[in-house]
Amino acid sequence: MIKILFIGDLIGRPGRKLIFNHFNELLERYSPDFTIVNIENVAGGMGITKKIVDELEKKVNIDVYTTGNHVWDKKEFEKYVNHFEKVLIPANYPDNVPGNRFKICKKNNKTIAVANLLGRALMGVNLECPFKTAKSLIEKLKKETENIIIDFHAEATSEKNALALYLDGYVSAIIGTHTHIQTADERILDKGTAYITDAGMCGIYNSVIGYDEKNAIKKFITQMPKKYEVKTSGRAVIQGVFIELDDRGKGNKIERVKIFYWQFFFY
Ligand code: FE2
Repeated sequence: MIKILFIGDLIGRPGRKLIFNHFNELLERYSPDFTIVNIENVAGGMGITKKIVDELEKKVNIDVYTTGNHVWDKKEFEKYVNHFEKVLIPANYPDNVPGNRFKICKKNNKTIAVANLLGRALMGVNLECPFKTAKSLIEKLKKETENIIIDFHAEATSEKNALALYLDGYVSAIIGTHTHIQTADERILDKGTAYITDAGMCGIYNSVIGYDEKNAIKKFITQMPKKYEVKTSGRAVIQGVFIELDDRGKGNKIERVKIFYWQFFFY
């Protein structure tokens, strides 16, 4: 059996602090063989910096970092992305874009492969088809292991449902990210793939997907562009999923992780 702990998008400083302060508790609680964390919003709420990945690497033991549409928001990251072999970029970016498309992790005679894909519906991106990319990538990964985990970073629940059913039985788990709102539809699909539409986030719970409501509300009311700022005070939450795979690489169990912390200020 293989146990995997997947943690949803870390939103800025509260997301980082939650992980720095509580990751060891999560390891004790779930005893995972492998850990995966989505970090595309880790720097100021959008993007990634070298300094932050260095700090994560120093302080917590994460096996794979997944990302999404905000992976390039901090200009400098393009320069460093190949430097971090644990950081994945969505595999359906064009071939000439830098960054790793998958990661094979081996530990204690257990192996998993992790990949990241970006949805196209309502995402404002024009990438390769995630369905086609998934099929060719999975063929390659299957030569290494049957234990394949996909972070599908997408907005539309329908696109996430569709990819999950398209790949049911071909991969071990499909975990949705990007909306930051944890869905209550975790399940093992008919042919054995563990699935959730969205794993949720790590940040301030009563917020607009992790951001301060002030500008978010103004944006909706005025229809004018407003900068989203990370919300840094209030009840905090760590969200994700805990998955167990059987010896054939099928999902055995998927369970939501949702832990609240009454930490009011993150500065
Ligand atoms: Fe995203």
